[in-house]
Amino acid sequence: MANQEEAFKKVVSHAKEYGYIFPSSEIYDGLAAVYDYGQLGVELKNNIKQYWWKSMVQYHENIVGIDSAIFMHPSIWKASGHVDAFNDPLIDNKDSKKRYRADVLIEDHIAKIEDKIKKEVEKAQKRFGDAFNREQFVSTNPRVLEHQAKIDEITRRYSECMNANDLAGLRQLIIDLEIACPISGTRNWTEVRQFNLMFATKMGSVSEGSDTIYLRPETAQGIFVNFLNVQKSGRMKVPFGIAQIGKAFRNEIVARQFIFRMREFEQMEMQFFVRPGEELKWFEYWKAERLKWHLSMGIPAEKYRYHDHEKLAHYANAATDIEFEFPFGFKELEGIHSRTDFDLTRHSEFSGKKLQYFDSELNENYTPYVIETSIGVDRTFLAVFSHALKEETLEDGSVRSVLGLPAVLAPYKAAVLPLVKKDGLPEKAREIFDMLKFDFMLQYDEKDAIGRRYRRQDAIGTPYCITVDNDTLSDNSVTVRERDTMSQERIPIENLKTYLHQHIQPISVQ
Ligand code: GAP
Repeated sequence: MANQEEAFKKVVSHAKEYGYIFPSSEIYDGLAAVYDYGQLGVELKNNIKQYWWKSMVQYHENIVGIDSAIFMHPSIWKASGHVDAFNDPLIDNKDSKKRYRADVLIEDHIAKIEDKIKKEVEKAQKRFGDAFNREQFVSTNPRVLEHQAKIDEITRRYSECMNANDLAGLRQLIIDLEIACPISGTRNWTEVRQFNLMFATKMGSVSEGSDTIYLRPETAQGIFVNFLNVQKSGRMKVPFGIAQIGKAFRNEIVARQFIFRMREFEQMEMQFFVRPGEELKWFEYWKAERLKWHLSMGIPAEKYRYHDHEKLAHYANAATDIEFEFPFGFKELEGIHSRTDFDLTRHSEFSGKKLQYFDSELNENYTPYVIETSIGVDRTFLAVFSHALKEETLEDGSVRSVLGLPAVLAPYKAAVLPLVKKDGLPEKAREIFDMLKFDFMLQYDEKDAIGRRYRRQDAIGTPYCITVDNDTLSDNSVTVRERDTMSQERIPIENLKTYLHQHIQPISVQ
């Protein structure tokens, strides 16, 4: 746990030190759970969004994108159920006066037991070495089985309470598990209450008598209310999808874990409209497809897992999360939901407009069913960034910080570095920079010794350094240094563009 905390602190401080993420309004002591992306952060974030957009919109003929407004008609949030049911169960500790999400307290408790299992497995793995059989160990070891039985029992009670909206039951579970407030250390808890997460504001210059509108808590509703516009103007045939990237806002009470849970964040969502009855087939399809997308970034498969929902939202008939092992444990990164015809039907009822599709093959009208894929940009950023950050001890005993970002996502694809700041090398380096800058985001740097410049590029995640030396002037070649292996090769300048294009590719996953 202490190690995890240390690793997480390093992620936060590295992100700040190198211009990836700053606390919002920092000179005014910050604003809780709101962050600004700096000069490198915005590049990584834009690359993540572009990578998602390409894989969803560009690579699928039957998916198109939109960009709907953040402000929407207030009735939309009535129809979607957010006004009545977009709540978190909150509980206060009477001694510290701190407020917590009751569900998060319980989930954190489960995570601690999971951590104990993980430690048992790691210990056994060390002991047995290559002969270790993980599956056999977790299904027979008495200590692991005892921990697992505890988790199963807590999960059962927790799901029952959540399904029945039993707030008193949630409180009782917290008391029975002897969960204490991390600040006061006491178990002096209030009742559990529901709290709506939407931010409300007034539209119009005079607040009196004007309508209350909400900052959207998800981008999905902007897609549903444009279903007919897109289907008709784009002559879309079911099955088809509508994708959107945009800001969402939630008044998160337990705002912590850096950019994992923010009050203002970005989502990348896609709603896929299908024939009724075919939704579970498409659910399985998108479940597999989305995991492939994550793996295509080169992060090992064991960092991801599915978490199928036991408690389904009232509108869903299947749901799973893709969880990622963040520095603070496995947590939700993306949700894949089979939302039935709930949203289109509700918007039809509330708007009085028929949101249906005429299927010419079946010769019938129906309300399409929907599979949703919904992923946070910021959580993807945190997943990619935290996994990439490493400290390596080199042969000479020195330590280098290296941000091993997938090349396709790295802010700068290459740095162009004249070995020395004289003898015509800067001019040659500038020439190379100008030749490549229309294809790649580059950095030019001539300050400090070359070793220090390499270290800086390692720390910000630049996959390639192009070094211009005296030989370059005669042989028209440069040294290309690769970030992760630190290997160097000599490349003719005329081949540089092709070399970089070939090396900055996503990993293809079958
Ligand atoms: N339209 C469905 C929907 O919004 P969700 O599970 O509430 O589903 C989807 O959110 C994704 O949005 C999550 O998996 C997460 O990646 C991201 N997300 C949700 N709340 C967030 C928050 N407060 N801060 C950062 N990301 C968040």
